[in-house]
This record gives sequence, C-alpha cells and structure tokens, in this order.
Amino acid sequence: MKDLSDILSEKKYLGDISEISHNKKIPVISYEVGRLLEVIIFIKKPKHVLEIGCGEGYSSYFLAKNLKKASFTGIDLNSKRLAKAEEFISSNFPELDINFYSGNALKIIPQLKLKFDFVFIDAAKYEYPDYLEILIEKLEKKALIIADNIFYSEKVFARVVKEHDKKSVEGLKKFVAMMQNKKIFDTRFIDIGDGLSISIFKK
Ligand SMILES: C[S@@+](CC[C@H](N)C(=O)[O-])C[C@H]1O[C@@H](n2cnc3c(N)ncnc32)[C@H](O)[C@@H]1O
Repeated sequence: MKDLSDILSEKKYLGDISEISHNKKIPVISYEVGRLLEVIIFIKKPKHVLEIGCGEGYSSYFLAKNLKKASFTGIDLNSKRLAKAEEFISSNFPELDINFYSGNALKIIPQLKLKFDFVFIDAAKYEYPDYLEILIEKLEKKALIIADNIFYSEKVFARVVKEHDKKSVEGLKKFVAMMQNKKIFDTRFIDIGDGLSISIFKK
C-alpha cells in the first residue's frame, strides 16, 4: 500500500476474500483482529513469524503485510487451503521469505529449524495447550504469542457446556492457565473478535 486512499481498496479486497472463506465455511479472523495483528507487527518488527492454522491465508495477509527482511512460516492441515494461502501470500508479498507446510502442526513444528519471535495460533482449540508445549523450544526470548478464539463465542465463560464443545473449552482453559504462568509468560486477554490472548515469552 502506497497511499492513504489505498486503504479503501485494500478493505474491499480483504472483505471479498473473507466472504469467499465464509461461503466455504472456513472461519477466519475478524477484520479488526487482522488490523490489530498488522499494527503489532509494524511496531514489533519480528524477523521470524509462524502461523499455526493459516487456512487460505486471510490472517496471513495481515501478518505478512508489514514484515521487512523477515520470514513467514504458515502451517495448515488442509493441503488445498495451504496451497491457496501460499499462492495468495507469495503473489502479494513476493519479497518475503515464505515457507508453507501442509500437515499437522504438532508433527511439523518440532522439525522446524528456525526459532520464532512472533507466533499466531488459530487452529484446533482443543490442541492449543499441545501447540504451546512444543512451541517453547522454538521461541526466541521475548517472543510474542497471540492466540485467537480464546473466548470461543463466550463458551469458556459458560457454566454449562454442550458435549460437542467440551474438548475445545477444556483445551482453551488449559491454554489460558498455561499462559498465566507468570514465570514464563506475561499475558493479556483482549475482548476483540472471538477473544485474543497476547503473551510475551519471558525466557
Ligand atoms: C480457523 S481456521 C484458520 C483461519 C485462518 N487463520 C484465517 O483467519 O484466515 C483453522 C485452521 O486450522 C487448521 N488446523 C486444525 N488443526 C490443525 C493442526 N493440528 N495442524 C495444522 N493446522 C490445523 C484447519 O485445517 C483450519 O484451516
């Protein structure tokens, strides 16, 4: 983006992409969460960004947009979505060092050579604690970890949880408890989109 007026055409472009995902029943981050990610990246200027659950790349766009001389790694279980994400991000940001891996993040992350200073988690809610456990080894000091869907349509606050949601709610609650370990993370929760956690890795 070069001019202020480009923001309107970008908004339309992103709106169309998010609508296509919604039509295909792929849940994506909210536009506001995307813009927040974009700003945090602009301020933090990370060098190695990892996204767990990149889908077709809508969220990856916001993560990649302000990266400079940096790498972006995206992982998704679904190979068709991943191929779309790779095409979308490489065509929009040809200067970026990108790596897209199709498969289970729990198997892929331990094999990655890089260490990351920014991680965005938006995959299977019941697996959030498992992602965190294997991520620790792969984090730079002061890395930022942001996770989406922490409130899970406010189901994490409900006293009665439907059977269908139990695994996800349990996973999210365990993840929140892990993130509240003050020796390892400094964490804030933000009520935008479906709830975000933002944590600084203290080690
Ligand atoms: C909510 S969608 C991601 C949407 C995307 N972040 C966006 O906003 O455009 C969640 C994605 O996580 C992926 N996923 C679920 N479990 C995974 C796992 N264990 N490893 C890698 N990807 C996973 C799914 O295939 C799905 O595409």
